[in-house]
Amino acid sequence: MATAVLVLHGVNLNLLGTREPAVYGRTSLTAVDRVIKEHARRRGVRVECRQSNHEGQLVDWLQGARAEGFAGVVFNPGAFTHYSIALRDAVAAIDVPVVEVHLSNVHAREEFRSRSVIAAVARGQISGFGPQSYLLGLDALLSLRTTATRARAGR
Ligand code: DQA
Repeated sequence: MATAVLVLHGVNLNLLGTREPAVYGRTSLTAVDRVIKEHARRRGVRVECRQSNHEGQLVDWLQGARAEGFAGVVFNPGAFTHYSIALRDAVAAIDVPVVEVHLSNVHAREEFRSRSVIAAVARGQISGFGPQSYLLGLDALLSLRTTATRARAGR
């Protein structure tokens, strides 16, 4: 069975393409998801992309990720990144690796964006590469699996 990865887009990311295009570009979320799926297909991975503006819905998806068969999560929490302890706790609670991604470079913007409450419990953070951040996040997750497999095989 192919490895499955869950891609979660948080609050306001449904507005991609029209929302602050100077910061987030003109590519819609549907188009971003298409690029993610194409990249995943080339990697032989099954991917499912979901978006919600609701913190609790994102918590539910994170909590259910293992039971739904996902091997990892690529997660852009949007503004929740900067203050959602509920999402941080959900990421910390699950035994599925989570890579935090951002379209913009959160460290090069307003000061409040450079603080992520998620980063310390995520496996890592990728920020600033536009839609490519999601592809790098997916590759980062897959490299974790390759490293783990090699370690088990003593290679
Ligand atoms: C974002 C960065 C956040 O600071 C912001 O609130 C977003 C998008 C990004 O992808 O660059 O909604 O997560």
